[in-house]
Order: sequence, then C-alpha cells, then structure tokens
Amino acid sequence: MAGKRLIILSIFSVGIVLVVLNSAYSRRRIPEYVGVDVCKKCHGMESIGNQYKIWSTSNHANAFMRLKTTKALEIAQKIGVEAPHAELQCLKCHTTGGGKSERVKNEGVGCEACHGPGEDYFEFSNHASFIDRENAYRKAISLGMYPILGVEGIKARERLCKNCHRDERPCSPADIEEKKRRELSLSIIADLPSKLRHPLRR
Ligand code: HEC
Ligand code: HEC
Ligand code: HEC
Ligand code: HEC
Repeated sequence: MAGKRLIILSIFSVGIVLVVLNSAYSRRRIPEYVGVDVCKKCHGMESIGNQYKIWSTSNHANAFMRLKTTKALEIAQKIGVEAPHAELQCLKCHTTGGGKSERVKNEGVGCEACHGPGEDYFEFSNHASFIDRENAYRKAISLGMYPILGVEGIKARERLCKNCHRDERPCSPADIEEKKRRELSLSIIADLPSKLRHPLRR
C-alpha cells in the first residue's frame, strides 16, 4: 500500500518538475548579439567566400562612423540632437542592435543586423553543415537567425531592409529626385548589388 502511494507521489512530482521546466522554456529569452568578430573567425576565410571582407568594404560597415561626420552633425542639429553617435534616434539604424547592445554599439550595420542575433546559432553545429544545409538553416532559424535567404526569404528580406531604408528618417534627403534615387528597389533587395553581394552557395 505504502509502495503504491510512493509511486503515485513520485509520478506526481515528476509532473510538477516537467510543468516548471516547460514554463521556464516557454518564457523565451531573446538571444544576444555577439558581434562581427565572432562571425569573422570563419566567414573571414576565403574557402567559404570571405563574406567578412565584402561586408567590411561596404558602407554598412561604415554606418556608425558616418554619425561622426560634419553632415551627420548638421542633420542631428536640425532635430535638436547633439551627439548623433551616442543617440538612439540615430543608432537605431546605424548599428547592430539599434544602439541598445553595448557589445555591438559601434560596429555599424553588421552581420547580425541582417542575419539576427547570433548568441544561440553562431557555433558551426547550430547553423551550418556541409552535408545537410537545409536542415542546418532550419535549425539556425529556430535559434534566432532571420529567414532572409534565397527566394523563400524575399518577403522577410524586404521587411528587414525597409526597416532602415525608409523615407521617414532624419537623414532622408530633402530633394525629391535624390530621395527617389536612394529608395531601395525590390530588384536591389532581391539581388544584392555587386558591392554588397556575399553569397556562399553560388
Ligand atoms: C565556427 C565557424 C563559424 C562561425 C563562428 C560562424 N559561421 Fe556561419 N557558417 C559557417 C560555415 C562553414 C557555413 C557554411 C556551411 C555550408 O557550406 O553550407 C556557414 C553558413 C552560414 C550562413 C548560411 C545559412 C546557413 O545556415 O547555412 C549564414 C547566414 C551564416 N553562416 C551567418 C553567420 C553569422 C551571422 C555568424 C556570426 C554571428 C556566423 N555565421 C558564425 C561557419 C561559421
Ligand atoms: C530609420 C533609419 C534611420 C535613422 C533613424 C537614421 N538613419 Fe541615417 N541613414 C539611414 C539609411 C538607410 C542611410 C543610407 C541611405 C542611402 O545611402 O541610400 C542613411 C544615411 C545617413 C547619412 C549619409 C547621408 C548622405 O547623404 O550621404 C548620414 C550622414 C546619416 N544617415 C545621419 C543620420 C543621423 C545624424 C541620424 C539621427 C539624427 C540618422 N542618420 C538616423 C537610415 C537611418
Ligand atoms: C545588409 C544586410 C546584410 C549584412 C550586413 C550581412 N548580410 Fe549576409 N546576407 C544578406 C542577404 C540578403 C543574403 C542572401 C543573399 C541571397 O540569398 O541571394 C545574405 C547571405 C549570406 C550568406 C550566404 C547564405 C547562402 O545561403 O548562400 C552568408 C554565409 C552570410 N550572408 C554571412 C554574412 C556575414 C558573416 C556577414 C557579416 C560579415 C553578413 N552576412 C552581413 C544580408 C546581409
Ligand atoms: C539596421 C539598418 C539597416 C538594415 C537592416 C539595412 N541597411 Fe542598408 N544601409 C543602412 C545605413 C545606415 C546605410 C548608410 C551607411 C553609410 O553610408 O554610412 C546603408 C547603406 C546601404 C546601401 C548603400 C551601400 C553602399 O555601400 O554604397 C545599400 C545599397 C543598402 N544599404 C542596401 C541594403 C539592403 C539590400 C538591405 C537588406 C538586405 C539593407 N541595406 C539593410 C542601414 C541598414
């Protein structure tokens, strides 16, 4: 009799542990940004395409430094901002994590600004595989990578780019023609221009 009660009791307590674990799991933590240098360790290698080199010579890598130029100061002054490189109103689009993450506050528009915060996926086995790439990519997405790759990713990619590349920004040119010229067309979004293109599989 006592034995049976013990069994029921222990099944009950296993149940409680499961409920507690489950609720801790569903209160999902948002992964942190790890910074460009972590990605560079592998993505700076020629054998897999050196995406780092392509990025580092693009203006995205320069987006934070841009906030220290005379032009930036002029733009900022008009809306009453004194130090644009220290102001969320500008960092929002000019650096990874929008200026809210100390670690990547001045790296510019880095890998993770477009591919998602890397804390949970940056290790090889959490996002890459030379054997089953599709599954590796799926796993990466479940760990916080943004689903912006390939044809299936076009919609998400468009939203991502236009989050920053939109008309309503303090640095948008006043001139209508210039504004038009700077608008990101869907064709640029779908097929990155050569100075931004950093593919792996083509
Ligand atoms: C330990 C090495 C390593 C690190 C660190 C690393 N990667 Fe990768 N990553 C790879 C390799 C190798 C591949 C290619 C595998 C293949 O050929 O499919 C890859 C593939 C990718 C892909 C293609 C999609 C996919 O899931 O296959 C993206 C996007 C990517 N990495 C982004 C990043 C970003 C962003 C970081 C930093 C936060 C990062 N990687 C850090 C090795 C690494
Ligand atoms: C909503 C996103 C967003 C915000 C907020 C933002 N920027 Fe920009 N900024 C951009 C984008 C996108 C570009 C690149 C546009 C292009 O070249 O097509 C840019 C470009 C610039 C440039 C280069 C402009 C040029 O004409 O060469 C400067 C300078 C600049 N921003 C300063 C600022 C300052 C200062 C602030 C804060 C007061 C700010 N930005 C806030 C998105 C933003
Ligand atoms: C401005 C946004 C942006 C930034 C910044 C960026 N990427 Fe990408 N990346 C993309 C897009 C969009 C694609 C998909 C291109 C395609 O599918 O044609 C891509 C593709 C890739 C791929 C190839 C995936 C494949 O399936 O072929 C890898 C690897 C990668 N990026 C790694 C990086 C790394 C590492 C960095 C930083 C050094 C970085 N990216 C910075 C937007 C970005
Ligand atoms: C986090 C905000 C952000 C995101 C996301 C973003 N950009 Fe940008 N982009 C910028 C800023 C800021 C600049 C201006 C950098 C500078 O010149 O200082 C810029 C510059 C550019 C330029 C001019 C590049 C050059 O080297 O002359 C192009 C083209 C561009 N972005 C395309 C894209 C595309 C395509 C995507 C989506 C795959 C994208 N961007 C995503 C913020 C962003």
